[in-house]
Amino acid sequence: MSAGDPGTPGTPAAPGPPGPAGPAGGRLLLADIDEPGLSTREVYERRGGYESLRRALEMEPEGVLGQIEASVLRGRGGAGFQMGKKISFLPKGPIEKYLVCNADESEPGTFKDRELMQKSPHMLIEGIVIASYAAGVGRAFIYIRGEYVWQAEVLEGALREAREAGYIGERVLGSSHSLSLVLHRGAGAYICGEETGLLDSLEGKRGNPRLKPPFPAIQGLYQGPTLINNVETLATVPAIVRMGGEEYAHLGTETSTGTKLVSISGHVRRPGNYEIELGTPSREIIYGLAGGPGEGREVKCWFPGGSSAPVLTADDLDTPYDFDSMARAGSMLGSGAIIVVDDTTPIVDVALKVARFYRHESCGKCTPCREGTNWTVKMLERIKAGEATAQDLDVIASAQTNIIGHCLCVLGDAMAMPIGSIVEKFRGELERTIEEAGRIGGGANAPDLTTPAVTGRGALLAEQTRATESAHA
Ligand SMILES: Cc1cc2nc3c(=O)[nH]c(=O)nc-3n(C[C@H](O)[C@H](O)[C@H](O)COP(=O)(O)O)c2cc1C
Ligand code: SF4
Repeated sequence: MSAGDPGTPGTPAAPGPPGPAGPAGGRLLLADIDEPGLSTREVYERRGGYESLRRALEMEPEGVLGQIEASVLRGRGGAGFQMGKKISFLPKGPIEKYLVCNADESEPGTFKDRELMQKSPHMLIEGIVIASYAAGVGRAFIYIRGEYVWQAEVLEGALREAREAGYIGERVLGSSHSLSLVLHRGAGAYICGEETGLLDSLEGKRGNPRLKPPFPAIQGLYQGPTLINNVETLATVPAIVRMGGEEYAHLGTETSTGTKLVSISGHVRRPGNYEIELGTPSREIIYGLAGGPGEGREVKCWFPGGSSAPVLTADDLDTPYDFDSMARAGSMLGSGAIIVVDDTTPIVDVALKVARFYRHESCGKCTPCREGTNWTVKMLERIKAGEATAQDLDVIASAQTNIIGHCLCVLGDAMAMPIGSIVEKFRGELERTIEEAGRIGGGANAPDLTTPAVTGRGALLAEQTRATESAHA
């Protein structure tokens, strides 16, 4: 849903984002999004669709790649790696290469790819065909999450139309480029959004992450070189070809070029998808576009890039929304999903919600993630039940530190980063929660906050051991 989407109850139309002159106030991906019938080839073509593909096919593949490189487009799926660089890592020559579009969109708070696929599927298809031409790929797949039933049906219809029109298949529009494009539905697992878990799942196996290196660009699907990109990344390619890579790079900041779809949810008056120019102050997005929290409420914290991003607070609202500014602020842009939490929400509930999600989604392959997520949930439950001590907060914090960087993929980190940041930034509130819950619940370990904090590594280890035993009891 975009701002003003009729399917979003009570969502008034919001003004377009600030930005340089361009279609619909700087919008590239959502410019036509509410045009009736845009999901059909006829309307998409009437709005200029597939013109970029025709233009791309008039160039050499290297020329198209040059435009993508010049745009400095960074991946929109989470890691923010430059798309042009990724393509250039693929081996050259007549070797079978693959392109996989990651349409798993399972990061909590993220719903931008859904809107693109549902309302503008031909934009994604056009982007895939152009990218496959630039990368010398003859076989492409869209891996869509199982829950996106409607979006899968819309895409199947659009693929049929694209095949009939010769945009995919043998000798695309009479050129030397041929491409098969297949839609594959996942079964609904967060870990299948991780690129190597996705590849295993696409190959028909259980979706478990693989060791990296080798990276998919060298050894991916069926052991072949594979370009994996997010839906939004690929859907941006037609705009880059239309505008020219350099022109596109003038949008946004020097290192975070272009526009970005932001999904905003949580305690805001106008949740939805907004297209902003990267570098827009976060306050303008949260308050200006999404209307901020309800009457009399304040922002307590916000996740800038899905639930796996370390939380920021009201003090960070003026941070520009781009990859590097978010990293400097101690968080990340991630999938571009802002979740706002207002001051009526107990922070322990936020932490529990996040930790339970990652515990449930851990594939269990490596110990720090499998045990650490479960253990963190149990520790947080003890806080709520009034069975924790203030020192348990040190134990939770140290557990997160020991998870980060010690897992096979970053799902473990995806829990440890937000939980670590919550413990660090809301320690006072968590201590009060422990104290109050202990008083009300009369928990077995009702805290005595007057006791001086236990310090030193030996004490911490003793505490960890005690807590681990209790958690597994
Ligand atoms: C646990 C986990 C889940 C992920 N889920 C998604 C997802 O749902 N969609 C997505 O595009 N990328 C997801 N990613 C990132 C992908 O691994 C990969 O970086 C991305 O698809 C590359 O595309 P991009 O360069 O266009 O961003 C996930 C990563 C991890 C570690
Ligand atoms: S970090 Fe978690 S999800 Fe990733 S491989 Fe290890 S156990 Fe599986």
